[in-house]
Amino acid sequence: MSQPYEIEQLISAKSIAARIETLSREIQRAFRDTDKLVVVGLLRGSFVFIADLVRELDLPVEVDFLETSSYGDSMVSSREVRILKDLRGEIEGRDVLVVEDIVDTGHTLSHVLHLLESRHPRRLETIALLDKPSRRETDVKATWTGFEIPDEFVVGYGIDFAQRNRNLPYIGCVRFIDATET
Ligand code: PRP
Ligand code: MN
Ligand code: MG
Repeated sequence: MSQPYEIEQLISAKSIAARIETLSREIQRAFRDTDKLVVVGLLRGSFVFIADLVRELDLPVEVDFLETSSYGDSMVSSREVRILKDLRGEIEGRDVLVVEDIVDTGHTLSHVLHLLESRHPRRLETIALLDKPSRRETDVKATWTGFEIPDEFVVGYGIDFAQRNRNLPYIGCVRFIDATET
């Protein structure tokens, strides 16, 4: 049985779009000498962000995906990152940008970076839309961050709570409704 909850908007769709525009300009500058950038989305959470981000990039890009899972339907990290689907392409000698929706404990990103590093890309950078530094358990930081957020359980814009709410166009916080309160 799941406890009822409400979602309170934290970051509007408009602010997300504006931030992505700014970040994409920085990314374009950083990779202007790259022949063909490999943009790697971490499924499932990053599917909305990567779609919006790559459409702002005026660069030759290749899009690939890696599927990881550490939360499942839980609100806390299992600290075990499972690779459910690997990249389709080779990244050796390539310039790679990993796209993540949120860095929380950091276990997911740190695991993925170690894995990709072992394949010897020429350059490996990361962008995370959200960063929750107060919850970090590993020493990892994205090259570019969209927004730093407080320790709230967030959903929307690709991010789920037990696989729901990924389709919200904005980022919201989950607020549980206390049934005894009314
Ligand atoms: C979520 C989120 C990040 C990761 C961040 O993924 O999308 O990938 O957790 O948490 P961490 O920094 O504590 O590792 P999840 O495992 O829920 O899979 P999903 O993307 O399919 O929802
Ligand atoms: Mn994820
Ligand atoms: Mg999830």
